[in-house]
Amino acid sequence: VEDNRKFSVVIAGGGSTFTPGFVINLLKSQDKFPLRKLKFYDNDAERQKKIGDAVAIIMKERAPEIEFSYTTDPKEAFTDVDFVMGSIRVGKYEMRSYDEKIPLKYGVYGQETTGPGGMAYGLRSIKSIIEIIDWMEEYSPNAWMINYSNTIAIVSEACRRFRPNAKVINICDMPIDLMDRMAVIAGRKSFKDLDFKYYGLNHFGWWKEVRDRKTGEDLTPMLKEYVAKNGYWVGGEYDEHTEASWEATFKEAAEVYQLDPTTLPNTYLQYYYFPQYEVKNADPKHTRTDEILEYRQKLVFGECERIVKEGTAKGNLWDYSEVHSEYIVDICHAIAYNTHEKFLANIPNNGAISNIADDAIVEVPCLFGADGVQPICQGEAGRLQYGMINEQVTCEKLVVDAYEQKSYVKMLEAFALNKTVPDASVAKKILDDMMVVNKPYWPDLK
Ligand code: NAD
Ligand code: LMR
Repeated sequence: VEDNRKFSVVIAGGGSTFTPGFVINLLKSQDKFPLRKLKFYDNDAERQKKIGDAVAIIMKERAPEIEFSYTTDPKEAFTDVDFVMGSIRVGKYEMRSYDEKIPLKYGVYGQETTGPGGMAYGLRSIKSIIEIIDWMEEYSPNAWMINYSNTIAIVSEACRRFRPNAKVINICDMPIDLMDRMAVIAGRKSFKDLDFKYYGLNHFGWWKEVRDRKTGEDLTPMLKEYVAKNGYWVGGEYDEHTEASWEATFKEAAEVYQLDPTTLPNTYLQYYYFPQYEVKNADPKHTRTDEILEYRQKLVFGECERIVKEGTAKGNLWDYSEVHSEYIVDICHAIAYNTHEKFLANIPNNGAISNIADDAIVEVPCLFGADGVQPICQGEAGRLQYGMINEQVTCEKLVVDAYEQKSYVKMLEAFALNKTVPDASVAKKILDDMMVVNKPYWPDLK
């Protein structure tokens, strides 16, 4: 049967710093994933306009046949779409700054995922993600949502509980980014040249094995040898534009690896294994947020401003540098054309990790197709991982309990149980400060 389908995509969080790069990737992939329509949706009209006006020029120059528009009206945004990309940051960087700085005041590293910062962010995100799912289901019932809005583990647990049948797939690029590094270390081009066994939680996982995708050659031993010495730091041209804090993170993977030399770790485990080191090296007045505002956000919005001013997108930043979101286009392709390619997703475990509860949200390899994702069994979690996963999953579930029951105590339990928080009195101080600044976004915890 001849297949002439073209797809309509809406990016929720059109004002995201990742949007222009993603658009460029979409345009580069028109042979693979052809579009008829592209829309942006955001609840911050002014922020979205800056990106939207630049993208309008890109679209006019390169793909005038694709209808492009941006809006803050949900009905307009979610009507007649095949794919919704979830790229929102509820509370924006202003709130991420609090996620990082409030815990640091009390000697706790407030990073954006598995610690109190991430839990605060997760509690902010749930309502907005559910709202977007509901609009999608109302206006385009056949659409799929590919969500990468953090805190993914918590958002995924909320989806499992509140919208179990929704066509939503929660993904993350961190393991992909690391596999791109592994590919370079092993003399391959990209993660697409690798096959892998991986299990854990979001930002909290381990590779059991990495192989050459074509020949099946086991690359794990050579990767371990490299990572034990250098972490995932590649250096040279590859890391020319890598920011200082990321350089530290990639290098620190050498230490992270020592905790379990039978696997290769996700870098974010550093926050879990070495919280004291992270706190000692943090500047409570200048965190990752400030770094992003000074670098990525400035770069992206500056480039958009330039494009609008000059009226052309010729020679723009993303033509040369952006490969970041290529895998998201690949995922859309896999679903649209039912290819059952292998990527990672955050899903209810249901046996994928054999010694972890069925209702835990885990991050495992899945086959992506028109029917959604089918997890691939990864066997048992090691003893260390078993302990860590159960503790962290419980924290994430407690955050969703707090949301559901509007419960202060549940949120306090989530913070107090977390490995990065030394005791319940510190948990309480962090929570009480966070309650104040998160008032516009959190449920009214009692
Ligand atoms: P950003 O702050 O630059 O952009 C987010 C946009 O979402 C903003 O324009 C904001 O106005 C908008 N927004 C906030 N709440 C909204 C709501 N309720 N409805 C509609 N729009 C809303 O953020 P960013 O750094 O570009 O990150 C976007 C998201 O992607 C975050 O959740 C981030 O954690 C996640 N992320 C994804 C990847 C990936 O795999 N591509 C990598 C890193 C981060
Ligand atoms: C991001 O916003 O890029 C993060 O998700 C990761 C980070 O701290 O840079």
